[in-house]
Amino acid sequence: MTTPIYYVNDVPHLGHASTTVLADIFARWHRLLGEEVFFLTGTDEHGEKIQKAAAKAEKEPKEFVDSIVDNFKKVWERLRISNDYFIRTTDEQHIEAVKKFIPLLFSKDDIYKGEYEGWYCTPDETFVLESQLVGGKCPSCGRDVVKIKEEAYFFRLSKYQDKLLEMYNANPLFLEPAYSNEIINRVKSGLKDLDISRTTVTWAIPFPSDEKHFVYVWIDALTNYITALGWPGSEQFKKFWPADVHIMGKEINWFHSVIWPAMLMSAGIELPKRIFVHGWWTVEGQKMSKSIGNVVSPIAISDKYSSDALRYFIAREMSPGIDSDFSEAKLIERINNELVADLGNLVYRVLTIAEKYPGKIEGSAELEKELDLEPVKAAMEKLDARGALEHIWRFIKAANKYVNDKAIWKLEGAELSNALYNLLEAMRIISILIEPYMPDASAEISKQIGTKQGKLADCKFGKFEGKINKSSYLFKKVDVKKGA
Ligand code: MSP
Repeated sequence: MTTPIYYVNDVPHLGHASTTVLADIFARWHRLLGEEVFFLTGTDEHGEKIQKAAAKAEKEPKEFVDSIVDNFKKVWERLRISNDYFIRTTDEQHIEAVKKFIPLLFSKDDIYKGEYEGWYCTPDETFVLESQLVGGKCPSCGRDVVKIKEEAYFFRLSKYQDKLLEMYNANPLFLEPAYSNEIINRVKSGLKDLDISRTTVTWAIPFPSDEKHFVYVWIDALTNYITALGWPGSEQFKKFWPADVHIMGKEINWFHSVIWPAMLMSAGIELPKRIFVHGWWTVEGQKMSKSIGNVVSPIAISDKYSSDALRYFIAREMSPGIDSDFSEAKLIERINNELVADLGNLVYRVLTIAEKYPGKIEGSAELEKELDLEPVKAAMEKLDARGALEHIWRFIKAANKYVNDKAIWKLEGAELSNALYNLLEAMRIISILIEPYMPDASAEISKQIGTKQGKLADCKFGKFEGKINKSSYLFKKVDVKKGA
């Protein structure tokens, strides 16, 4: 499972955080299933954009990227991201592997020398055709493009047009359904060979066998998915490749759904199994951008509310095919109405009574009929984190309804013991099911009911074996007038 590797020209924002959180949710889910997961993230550190950002900061590129990379690491730590490896494209091992990858494409006669004359979007690090320009600007980000003319090596992408179309056809799960028509139509309309070297951008990996040239940053970047596993020849590569899924935002779908598989076909390396693409975040209806000044900081939000609240919001709001909108008001609504009212209150109310109950907690599993894991599993299988969360929430609501229907505060003796048994077992199961989404709340519930954190196989009613250790509320209600 992989995230994109992020450009280190800036601090990470909500857009970066949401992709990484989604990937983390899936990685944690698969660990809950008892599977071994290799979850990869990292940083994309070469190219013109970084070279320029470094110059602006009056630093050497390496010194500059070294000063930024920790911002990413810190945010991932704060958001409880459980990546197994963090790759930097300036890692020696990556650089050496890229130098071995390109000759494989040469050996297939898939690389030739020519000249590139056309447009380039530096912020996106993309070559743009004249016909693609929108009002003279980059069609993807709307920013200025520059004209370049330089000698370049080209990858015969055109040769892979039919092979790609056959592959999409044979693997209906490969492309993200929400964007698959767009990709297929563009591939059908014809593929141009891709410029894969630059002579004017020197903050890059030297192009093998021609010292005038440097590797185009996207070729360097895409290769990270295999070099991070120690390709070629490592045991880890044999074990974990092909990736089950590459996760990203829609603007880089083309690179992953078209260019990357063509590169791998040329190199004779197995293709990833699936490209999962999500929509973009806007902020209160507007594009998130520095110039508008509405960039959402995941650290600021986590510090003000909690990283669990941010993770929950991301999972609840995002899906493929549609853009999501962030507003603090909506986040607060979800915190108050869902995290506090549904989950936090359930835990607090039940534990308030449970901690005073002196007897043995036992009974018959009445709430179990409300627990249906199949739709949760099916949604996760489809990488529908939001759908799975909705099904988990149904069980949380059912537990709340049980509290009210039974009026547990009025119960005594065996009846109370039975109700507590059901609710505490439900809570133990809830703590497992929410772990991929809210690892802190999950651990806190386990702590407060005194049970060990289980796996998905433990999500069934058994004997309650915990020991109540009630402490504070899981989530703080936000005073809408005062903010957090
Ligand atoms: N370095 C390339 C990726 C190379 S992968 C081999 C890159 N980096 S990036 O820093 O620009 O990050 C792009 C990713 O950040 C998007 O694919 C998406 O995951 C995330 N987002 C950035 N802005 C976003 C939004 N406004 N909304 C949602 N996610 C977006 O591209």
